[in-house]
Amino acid sequence: MKGQLALCLDEYVPRIDAFLKELEFADPLGLRLATPLNEAMHYSVDAGGKRLRPILTIMAYRLLADDWQRALPVAAAYELVHTYSLIHDDLPAMDDDDLRRGRPTNHRVYGEAMAILAGDALLTEAFRLLADEVEADPGTVIKLVSGLSRAAGRDGMVGGQAIDILSQGESGQKKIDQQSELLEVLHRRKTGAMITGSLLAGVDLAQGDVSLRARLTEFGAVIGLAFQVADDILDEVGEEESLGKDIGSDRELGKLTFVSLFGLDQARQKLAELHRQAVLLLEPLGEKGLGLKALADYIVERDR
Ligand code: IPE
Ligand code: IPE
Ligand code: MG
Ligand code: MG
Ligand code: MG
Repeated sequence: MKGQLALCLDEYVPRIDAFLKELEFADPLGLRLATPLNEAMHYSVDAGGKRLRPILTIMAYRLLADDWQRALPVAAAYELVHTYSLIHDDLPAMDDDDLRRGRPTNHRVYGEAMAILAGDALLTEAFRLLADEVEADPGTVIKLVSGLSRAAGRDGMVGGQAIDILSQGESGQKKIDQQSELLEVLHRRKTGAMITGSLLAGVDLAQGDVSLRARLTEFGAVIGLAFQVADDILDEVGEEESLGKDIGSDRELGKLTFVSLFGLDQARQKLAELHRQAVLLLEPLGEKGLGLKALADYIVERDR
């Protein structure tokens, strides 16, 4: 029998993929020109990936409403920002990686200039989707724009990426408790903010109340941190083939990660502890929370 998560994924992922594939980027003359920019954008977006952030938006929306297709443009906006962050993360000036989503990285195929521009355009396109394609009143749209800006920007993903780069090769120079505090801030921003943001976007679209917002803010922080701890572990012990991206980059670049600071065993313990916290936070949601519970299970067990 298929599990709860597999059922959700069979339902959502093909629709998310189709929605993204149909987006027309960079069409200056209305001629559907396959410009290199357009191609570079679709190259990374259509390469797949787990679609975790759009799934979270849809699952959160579904806690409150059934017409989940209405959440697709919002879910897609989060995936576009996430995909841009991956393209830029792989650039030579950042992690300098060659493989992503099972394909050569964007800059390897289209060159650095086009990869930077494809990232920029995906980020901008995400906000266009929110402004033009979401069926909601203007107040709700503004809330969604505000949420995505915060999740993606200086106090979220970009801010976390900056700490990631600045702390590279710093290990040993600071006390372990200082490092551990920094690591938590780094992970909460670079990964947790977009994960929490994608959940809250689903709640906001469905006009959820403050108590659900608060609960999912906490849940997002916990699974966001767990997701990045798992990512750090997989960078050390994962398989390139199943992950579809380079492994060993963190060690090579002297990154501050849960594994570099505490070792594999403690990183795994941390993951188990975060999983327990996540499950507890879902308990009051009862049956309705089972999809998110299955996702929390997946986040700690994943091999890709
Ligand atoms: C990778 O994200 C970067 C991190 C934030 C850890 P994902 O592991 O969600 O990548 P895709 O979307 O499945 O490719
Ligand atoms: C990147 O973290 C998080 C982003 C905001 C893209 P990593 O650098 O660890 O992500 P991977 O391992 O390359 O996917
Ligand atoms: Mg990185
Ligand atoms: Mg990286
Ligand atoms: Mg990583």
